[in-house]
Amino acid sequence: MSKERLQGKNAIVTGAGSGIGNATIRKFLAEGARVFATDVDKTSLESLLLEFPSLRGLAGDVSRPADTEAIAAAAGKEWSHIDILVNSAGITARNVGEHASLEERWDKVMEVNVKGSMLMAHAVVPAMKKSGAGSIINLSSVMGSTGYPTSLAFSDGFNPYPSSKGAVSQLTRDMGVRLAGEGIRVNAVAPGFIHTSLTANVTQNPEILETLNGLHPVGRMGTAEEVANVIAFLASDEASFVNGAVWMVDGGYSAQ
Ligand SMILES: NC(=O)c1ccc[n+]([C@@H]2O[C@H](COP(=O)([O-])OP(=O)(O)OC[C@H]3O[C@@H](n4cnc5c(N)ncnc54)[C@H](O)[C@@H]3O)[C@@H](O)[C@H]2O)c1
Repeated sequence: MSKERLQGKNAIVTGAGSGIGNATIRKFLAEGARVFATDVDKTSLESLLLEFPSLRGLAGDVSRPADTEAIAAAAGKEWSHIDILVNSAGITARNVGEHASLEERWDKVMEVNVKGSMLMAHAVVPAMKKSGAGSIINLSSVMGSTGYPTSLAFSDGFNPYPSSKGAVSQLTRDMGVRLAGEGIRVNAVAPGFIHTSLTANVTQNPEILETLNGLHPVGRMGTAEEVANVIAFLASDEASFVNGAVWMVDGGYSAQ
């Protein structure tokens, strides 16, 4: 792939400290983009900033408007235009804490996954409108269009994650329709099960790992790099006619 694909592009990536966000940063830098990294986890963000001296960044919680505005403003100070936003910050109910109530789990997952993606886009869109161009990529999931398979004990039917990802897919479509006239494309990737810290606690169990592998027709879970490759395509001008789309990156999971 040519390094020029993202040359001259300025990109904000949330959830930069880990998993898909982290792989996206590495991919974007390798393809010539300037990148602004953000994560609620200051430690992982700081080590990323130390690893890549050209990287800029600011810690923040995407579910807090004051933070998303501060992140957009800080990136706006670095650059005259913002071309790309990748909303990779996300959590599952497991991240909320084992003693959290049903309502606390539901609200927190919705706050980070749905409201966080919306707030971050809302903070960045004015700059994109000003330059008349932009590409936003949200992180949906195969769980945004299907329920948890009965072979997994992940849900009793009240798990907020599938609903949150369904909302992210709809946010993507509505924003894609409404912002297209401003030169802004909005798309999502919908990964299958990917090896990251989000899934590490369950894939440690060999039986669950085997079940998860078997859910994908390719016979295995995916890697963060395989998702980042598609994100880089959607972010680039090569995807100039792709808008309001939810791209499955799932080894055939959703085709069954
Ligand atoms: N791993 C999978 O199997 C999988 C599958 C489909 C979709 N996704 C989605 O991809 C995205 C990235 O997931 P991942 O697997 O890389 O997870 P990850 O846990 O490895 O990384 C997520 C990052 O988001 C950060 N984060 C969490 N809450 C935040 C907040 N409020 N504000 C800012 N940053 C916050 C975390 O600190 C972490 O660095 C998520 O939206 C997730 O739902 C993941």
